[in-house]
Amino acid sequence: MSKESFERHLVLVGLMGAGKSSAGALCAKRLERKFVDTDHMVEEAAGISVARIFATLGENEFRELERRAVSAASASEVPLVISCGGGVAIDPVNQEALRESGYVVWLDAPIRELAERATRKSGARPLLAEGDPVATLQALAEVRYGAYEAMADLRIDTAGLGVSAVADLIIKAISKGVTG
Ligand code: S3P
Repeated sequence: MSKESFERHLVLVGLMGAGKSSAGALCAKRLERKFVDTDHMVEEAAGISVARIFATLGENEFRELERRAVSAASASEVPLVISCGGGVAIDPVNQEALRESGYVVWLDAPIRELAERATRKSGARPLLAEGDPVATLQALAEVRYGAYEAMADLRIDTAGLGVSAVADLIIKAISKGVTG
């Protein structure tokens, strides 16, 4: 395993439904690292779910809590696996903190597949609660893909792949120290 990639955090970015949390948790287990998820960190800090935060405090407050979660995770001296909520990458402060401390993997898939995966658990994702999830994700993709691309050391197309196969690809890539 490349020393450079191994000592850094493994950071997963991408749109909702990309499989960041499930693949991240599996990678953490295989790498024997602690796994953190920025949404869980935000929920712990606020004491309520992401959906409740959006509904009661609003998206701006959610983004502020999310920035704090990213800052705390990236500052960890122990290398972590960090799964980032889909909107993390659009904030320049988050981008810099994660790029400096982590090896960033962008998990991608066709929009229809993302929409199918992201809507399996209803109510969990406030941005997809109304309207057509495919159209919403398409609009988010247009705004965010540039940021994901700019941040990522590696993009993995997860189309049709299960969690274990995605984790295998990530671990294989960081083992080789792939940087492109
Ligand atoms: C969001 C993605 C969600 C969560 C929140 C907002 C987004 O995380 O942070 O609902 O802006 O794309 P996941 O990408 O883990 O679903």
